Amino acid sequence: MASNLCNIFQFLLYSLFLFISISTAQTSFSPKALVLPVTKDLSSSQYLTQISQRTPFVPVKLSIHLGGQTLWVDCEQGFTSSTYRSAICGSPQCTIAKPNTCYNCTSSPTPRPGCNKNACLNTPENPFINTLYDGGEIAEDVVSIQSTDGFNPGQFVKVPQFIFTCVPTFLTEGLASGVKGTAGLGRNDIALPSQFARVFGFARKFAICLSASTSSKGAVFFGDGPYIMLPNIDISKSLTYTPLFINPFGTGYVPYLNESSSEYFIGVKAININGKAVPVNRKLLAIDKRGNGGTKISTGRAYTVMETSIYNAVSKAFAEELSNVTRVASVAPFGTCFSSNSIGSTRAGPAVPPIDLVLQSNNVFWRIFGANSMVQVNKDVICLAFVDGGVRPTTSIVIGGYQIEENLLQFDIANSRLGFSSSLLFRQTTCANFNFTSRA
Ligand SMILES: *[C@@H]1O[C@H](CO)[C@@H](O)[C@H](O)[C@H]1NC(C)=O
Ligand SMILES: *[C@@H]1O[C@H](CO)[C@@H](O)[C@H](O)[C@H]1NC(C)=O
Ligand SMILES: *[C@@H]1O[C@H](CO)[C@@H](O)[C@H](O)[C@H]1NC(C)=O
Ligand SMILES: *[C@@H]1O[C@H](CO)[C@@H](O)[C@H](O)[C@H]1NC(C)=O
Repeated sequence: MASNLCNIFQFLLYSLFLFISISTAQTSFSPKALVLPVTKDLSSSQYLTQISQRTPFVPVKLSIHLGGQTLWVDCEQGFTSSTYRSAICGSPQCTIAKPNTCYNCTSSPTPRPGCNKNACLNTPENPFINTLYDGGEIAEDVVSIQSTDGFNPGQFVKVPQFIFTCVPTFLTEGLASGVKGTAGLGRNDIALPSQFARVFGFARKFAICLSASTSSKGAVFFGDGPYIMLPNIDISKSLTYTPLFINPFGTGYVPYLNESSSEYFIGVKAININGKAVPVNRKLLAIDKRGNGGTKISTGRAYTVMETSIYNAVSKAFAEELSNVTRVASVAPFGTCFSSNSIGSTRAGPAVPPIDLVLQSNNVFWRIFGANSMVQVNKDVICLAFVDGGVRPTTSIVIGGYQIEENLLQFDIANSRLGFSSSLLFRQTTCANFNFTSRA
């Protein structure tokens, strides 16, 4: 009974909060979708974006973290804003952020961003150095982002009370140069997709289209399509769907949190190369009772990482199917390399056997073509772009950034499904073809 009352109370608070969020969002214009430009950083292979935050507004460079639970930024150094507010324990902002704890910070004589009384804390993650920090202060501040009609960016819209997490500088280690935090696109309530959907009342879905080029812009779209790429191709129309799975355990490193993962898992049931099944231990492809195993998609990894036995089986099968091409010494971190001058090219990259991730049934598969399976490591050598994840990784297959470039992935959080396009190069377009000329 007490817990029911508590739930009802929380629900009422939440409804009030929703109402306030909606009414304080710019009411004159209601966007159908939002867009953020994304650029690949050459030296770190991270995918970077920029969002305006604070009062006065400053552009904040962020690294995309596909499964990340929050937008976190360094607020120990260089954070000034007259609109920063820490979330008060028990407040709706705090509740939807699913905090670990409440805290009275005493390490600063006067309150400052990251050190306030009666603040709630969560656990932001830096996926590039595999580090979690369980003392992130949940806070809100204004952000500004561009709307889109699917064809071009339009006017900027403001979210006055955008919830994010304030972290100390050390958590930014391993981020690309100049980057102050990560933009978490996870499935939970305070990650960017759900917050924008809640504030603007659009579908709880978003799409990511990463450009392979470090000099052109790819995009993240919040909300539904169309997503129009030059020459006037609506890439939201060419998706195949597969269920997204919830891993009941966070895949980070804080077991006491007992929270389901904010990351995106898909049900790979088999792997085929050139149409032939690769012998893999199917148990590893499922998520077990403790949350281990399975397949997730993460921009925290530059290349797909596979548990050793899967990696070995895939490498062997791939090399067998390409046995007419000269094998050369491996180039770390890759183990299966070839002489590139004996491999032809196609519209979708090097002419190599396709690798299929077989999903809910034999005729639903994500086909990986040469542009996403092979990486040119030097003038003469091209390697299978997968790396060995060791014998007992938490997750058996982590599909990394390289494998999703020039593919559209639409994450429909509300309906727990992923729409995937496979390589857009076969559809005469690329992720760099969104027309970023503003129509506002
Ligand atoms: C923080 O301090 C307030 C006022 O002194 C107190 O009521 C509250 O219980 C403290 N919170 C925690 C988590 O210690
Ligand atoms: C973890 O969460 C699940 C689902 O909410 C619950 O059934 C279980 O009892 C929790 N375990 C612990 C150790 O708190
Ligand atoms: C090697 O075999 C593949 C697949 O059968 C074929 O596409 C490719 O052209 C062949 N390459 C050479 C150098 O013969
Ligand atoms: C891009 O959009 C702008 C604004 O609508 C338009 O003027 C321009 O022609 C578009 N560019 C291309 C290549 O279609």
